[in-house]
Amino acid sequence: MKAITLIPGTTNVSLQELPDPVITAADDIKLRTIQVGICGTDREEVNGGRAIAPHGKDVLVIGHELFGEVIEVGRAVRAVRPGDFAMFTVRRGCGNCRACIKNRSDMSFTGDYTERGIKGADGFQAEYVVDKEKYIVKIPAEIKDIGVLTEPMSVAAKAIDEALSIQAARLGDFENTENWFAGKKALIAGIGPIGLMAAFALRLRGVQVIGMDIVDQNTLRPSVLKSIGGIYSDGRKVDVLEHDDLYGQIDFVFEAAGIASLQIKLIDTLGINGIYVATGIPADERSMNVPVGSLMRELVLKNQVVLGSVNAGIQHYRMAVKYLEESKRRWPAAIQQIITERIPFTEFHRALHPQTTNEIKVVIEW
Ligand code: BGC
Repeated sequence: MKAITLIPGTTNVSLQELPDPVITAADDIKLRTIQVGICGTDREEVNGGRAIAPHGKDVLVIGHELFGEVIEVGRAVRAVRPGDFAMFTVRRGCGNCRACIKNRSDMSFTGDYTERGIKGADGFQAEYVVDKEKYIVKIPAEIKDIGVLTEPMSVAAKAIDEALSIQAARLGDFENTENWFAGKKALIAGIGPIGLMAAFALRLRGVQVIGMDIVDQNTLRPSVLKSIGGIYSDGRKVDVLEHDDLYGQIDFVFEAAGIASLQIKLIDTLGINGIYVATGIPADERSMNVPVGSLMRELVLKNQVVLGSVNAGIQHYRMAVKYLEESKRRWPAAIQQIITERIPFTEFHRALHPQTTNEIKVVIEW
């Protein structure tokens, strides 16, 4: 089969012929790849950044945002049948800690997990993929046109779910915590694919959403945000710290920009009893001057929570499927606008270029 491979630590990406993966166990499932999304992590990898080849190998098959069709299943598989649409989750556990043993490698205690297409395990940019039933997520045919968004949506779904569980646990006595988000105000910093996925999920939960970025009002990402009832704030015109003055108390901050200085500043925008979740992974190691005294004082005096969230458990992928189904029912045009380009695998180089203004999600077609 054909696969897109990278020599980690270099910019050497190529299309290679590899052996087809085969079903060897009763719980194996084989997918024919239909589409695989490209994200910031892929671009970081092909620029010589964060990527690790499988143990004993020097090349890595890239890609972790899978959408495919089941073509063969082992004899014990019950979750899917040939002809179903599905995807596999990204992370594989260390096998040793409590989280990984419970299929919650997104919360691994050891850090010795692998990630398909990123860290120590081949990814999905290939014609066929085989993996275990416990990592499969079925995708209804009704959303096959946007099924490739399941992985990025799962990252947003986990971050939102974590925030909800924490707020429900600490505010349960005074608030309707079943959907703590309803009627609340959220600031999303960075309306790239993850920020926009969060915007859809939060709007579905009845949140007033303000999305911040540094592009013109009339470009695609702000337009999509506005078409689902969000407010766009141009970070070049409005200082991050002014958002609470302009819009009132911010109950939830969802960060998806991956810029460390912004990530720190955002703490200051958070309101009383608010919660802030960071999902962006900054690549640079620069140090900076921060007014820690006032940030920490406010954090304590306002009972604020700041947390990081990465990857997703299988339940978050299932939530992601629900969010996508619901988004397609409510805003069919807007959710479809997220996929801005479908590029044949033979032209993969074109898909790995740096992000352009009117691009949201580029996917490779297999
Ligand atoms: C992926 C996650 C992964 C993270 C860290 C993100 O781009 O979506 O699944 O856990 O990178 O490697």
